[in-house]
Amino acid sequence: MQRRAFRALSSSAIDRDTVERLLTAASLAPSCMNKQPWRFVVADREPVLQELKDKALEPGNYWARLAPVIIAVVTQADLDCRLSEGRDYALFDTGMAAMNLMLQATAEGLYAHPIAGFKPVEAKTILGIPDDHILVTLVICGRPADSLDALNDRHRQSETAERGRKPLSDISSFNGWQFAKAPTQV
Ligand SMILES: Cc1cc2nc3c(=O)[nH]c(=O)nc-3n(C[C@H](O)[C@H](O)[C@H](O)COP(=O)(O)O)c2cc1C
Repeated sequence: MQRRAFRALSSSAIDRDTVERLLTAASLAPSCMNKQPWRFVVADREPVLQELKDKALEPGNYWARLAPVIIAVVTQADLDCRLSEGRDYALFDTGMAAMNLMLQATAEGLYAHPIAGFKPVEAKTILGIPDDHILVTLVICGRPADSLDALNDRHRQSETAERGRKPLSDISSFNGWQFAKAPTQV
């Protein structure tokens, strides 16, 4: 599994054909009754891209200011199945589409890093996303940079660190629900 949430992006351009391959990969995700509840708003031109960076990124996501492309991932509950026992599928299906997009980016040697650290109201206003839709994530896209110089110490370290994951015993069980009360901290 090659995908990582890398941050050391170069500002070099990503062309529209490439972006369209990412969107096509996203669109091939499965969805409940093939409802395809995902919507993607691509920011790849000025002044929109700069405005998004200036007004909507949280400070901790300073590294995303170099990105040549930011893809807003949007959905709304009514765009997808709403079934019993809380099974609203819009976020789930949209997440699968976003993952397809990120895996396609990875296969093409790009970084595609999802963030929640943005101001949703500002971002939605800048991109013209309707109030009653959910801006789930911004996927920060770029080519790998030649160096880690633009990153702070913590992010520089995480760029080459092992992935921190809970053990399988914390997240899976066989033939019934058997989980320890206190999951492992990572
Ligand atoms: C919904 C979501 C929100 C995230 N928000 C941020 C963010 O605001 N800033 C950031 O640097 N990384 C963000 N990440 C990336 C995670 O920190 C990263 O995926 C996690 O630490 C695991 O690392 P890996 O993806 O490299 O395996 C986010 C990831 C997801 C799925």
